[in-house]
Amino acid sequence: MAEFSLPKNSQYREGKVWPKPVDGKRLQEFRIYRWNPDETENPRIDTYYVDREDCGPMVLDALIWIKNKVDPTLTFRRSCREGICGSCAMNIQGQNTIACTRGIDECGSGAVKIYPLPHMPVLKDLVPDLTQFFAQHASVEPWLQTQTPAPEAEWRQTPEDRVQLDGLYECILCACCTTACPSYWWNGDRFLGPAALLHAYRWLADSRDEMTGERLDKLEDPFKLYRCHTIMNCANACPKGLNPAKAIAEVKKMMVTRHV
Ligand code: SF4
Ligand code: SF4
Ligand code: FES
Repeated sequence: MAEFSLPKNSQYREGKVWPKPVDGKRLQEFRIYRWNPDETENPRIDTYYVDREDCGPMVLDALIWIKNKVDPTLTFRRSCREGICGSCAMNIQGQNTIACTRGIDECGSGAVKIYPLPHMPVLKDLVPDLTQFFAQHASVEPWLQTQTPAPEAEWRQTPEDRVQLDGLYECILCACCTTACPSYWWNGDRFLGPAALLHAYRWLADSRDEMTGERLDKLEDPFKLYRCHTIMNCANACPKGLNPAKAIAEVKKMMVTRHV
């Protein structure tokens, strides 16, 4: 198979080719985006070789292997390593996903290419600045809001009402959807993006919440909500199999029905 090389018009420069592991039995090539605020040669693509006989099966395992055994400066986020914390989100083989649940075997043949989540400022290597993403999440006030006096025990909900939250509460805030959304790329400062809007709907759909009208008022804006054009990249990107586009459509439906 031909060696992978960057296209001639690539904005990236070839970086360092790190040595192959001595006695490596089953080598897998990785091509990884590097960006260092303390250097001038940015960005660059470094090449690493991982011995798969000595490494776990997931892309995150390979990144940890590289960091421990080859290059301690390689920077990425991770915590749970089991698809719960959302911190290891990145772009792998052209697709936003979380590295801890993406198998190296699922990456096809040839070099595995890893970039940070697209269209976000990069702090270092595979670590994007998610300040705006989390501020947008906070802006939808993602917590239960009520007006009636609190019950003695907990706020109760029927099983039928609880089911309405399936497909919403499982979101791990990884930002794969939002950073895959073309509308967010162009209007990320004003469009809330799929993740924040999915959370907005999670509280609109909650039978216990008593601030539905106020929540809808805050979303009724040409940019915050209506920049979603149902392109569906968000649903394709979600590593938890959620469908933010559907949640956004439900919010739009609520907007229409409240006025009839
Ligand atoms: S469906 Fe809406 S939120 Fe999802 S990617 Fe498309 S424009 Fe973005
Ligand atoms: S909806 Fe899916 S892709 Fe988007 S932040 Fe939540 S878990 Fe990640
Ligand atoms: S390390 Fe937590 S989701 Fe990947």
